Amino acid sequence: MIAPTSVSASLPAAVGIRHEIAGASVAALARQYGTPLYVYDADTIRRRCRDLAAWDTVRFAQKACSNLAVLDLVRREGVLVDAVSTGEIHRALAAGFPAHAAHQPGPDGLPPAHPIVYTADIFDRDSLDAVVKHGLHVNCGSADMLEQLAERMPGANVTLRVNPGFGHGHSQKTNTGGEGSKHGIWHEEIPDVLRRAEWAGLAVSGLHMHIGSGTDLAHLAEVAEALERVAIEVGRSLTMVSAGGGLPVPYKPGEVHADLSGYFTLWDATRKRLEDRFGHRIRLEIEPGRYLTAESGSVVTEIRAIKKQGSRKYLLVDAGFNTLARPVLYGSYHPMSLCPQGEAERGAAEEVAVGGPLCESGDIFTQTDGGFVATRNLPAAAVGDLLVIEIAGAYGFVMASNYNSKPLPAEVLVDGGTHRLVRARQTPEDLVRGECV
Ligand code: LLP
Repeated sequence: MIAPTSVSASLPAAVGIRHEIAGASVAALARQYGTPLYVYDADTIRRRCRDLAAWDTVRFAQKACSNLAVLDLVRREGVLVDAVSTGEIHRALAAGFPAHAAHQPGPDGLPPAHPIVYTADIFDRDSLDAVVKHGLHVNCGSADMLEQLAERMPGANVTLRVNPGFGHGHSQKTNTGGEGSKHGIWHEEIPDVLRRAEWAGLAVSGLHMHIGSGTDLAHLAEVAEALERVAIEVGRSLTMVSAGGGLPVPYKPGEVHADLSGYFTLWDATRKRLEDRFGHRIRLEIEPGRYLTAESGSVVTEIRAIKKQGSRKYLLVDAGFNTLARPVLYGSYHPMSLCPQGEAERGAAEEVAVGGPLCESGDIFTQTDGGFVATRNLPAAAVGDLLVIEIAGAYGFVMASNYNSKPLPAEVLVDGGTHRLVRARQTPEDLVRGECV
């Protein structure tokens, strides 16, 4: 095991005591459902869906948080869904998204939107079978997908996911554009790919660009221009353009929400220029994951040990990178709040590192990119207190694992003052299901 190197620099302070999540008592949630526990606030998800009402289609990148209750919630808000695998297709259908759109344009003259779109750079054999079985629309990230689809669904319409030659993300691991990324069809290959689509008998009805996750509006704004250039090459068959996802969310103290109205205006103007050029309406989509669910989600953990390693104090909680992987993967910052239990006297707030139960030194929630252990200023804690790790609703549960044979945590949805279990905690039996000796 390689220990993350220590540095003395600490992250910005996030001092906080928290007793409630969306009106539900943290202590009561922990008592009823156990810890570690994912808790989502339904109203926050609804609010984020409504923030994007100006767009013709909001398509949820469900990879961010694909619990059926969350999918059902966004569906009721009129949001459509993206699927990147057979499993996500299954989830979308199970949550009530229909496979097919209405055939006629809506009253606004816009072409109908596909409720479920399969977006990927490959078809594995299962996903191609599922796409064909349900007749789903496909957003192709590689040209080989065209012939593979045409063989099974002759005459289909497709969207092309284009790599515009640049990208940006909160980490190099989430940058999905440029030569360093495997994603999308390279922008200079478009003329060739259009010929291949034509030979395969497929019509290109949509264009999509997604340059990365956790980026910012300055980088995202460059995409509209790049997409417009490619759209002109594709021509009049286009009836849909997608700005992809990547909308930023404030995680750190002092960060604020981006102004999304200017971003919509930019894309709307792009769409209108294309409509004028082609002489028909074009549907404008956006495909957020993080934006819709990040702020709604928290991980409730219990502090099980407090120890000093030389001069550094560690709070050890019952969640690890098996529960929330973003810190170990990207050095991501998540705010934390303490929910004190019991009457024990507490001292002043202090700098602490927060780690989990796993047998791996990287199991630290307060780390920076590269695995350097940092500290956080938290109210003085005692064993038995609860610690809430916040803004964990996107790429949280979905990236949890069974490492160290830890069961996946339970998930709870808080809505209108009530809370309910939307996924049961795994049991030891679940962990060995399907195995044999
Ligand atoms: N569309 C496509 C094609 C994508 O690949 C993604 C994210 C999205 C939309 C949604 O991006 P968002 O709006 O969430 O930024 N695990 C990483 C994020 C990986 C993103 C993967 N693709 C993290 O925890 O930061």
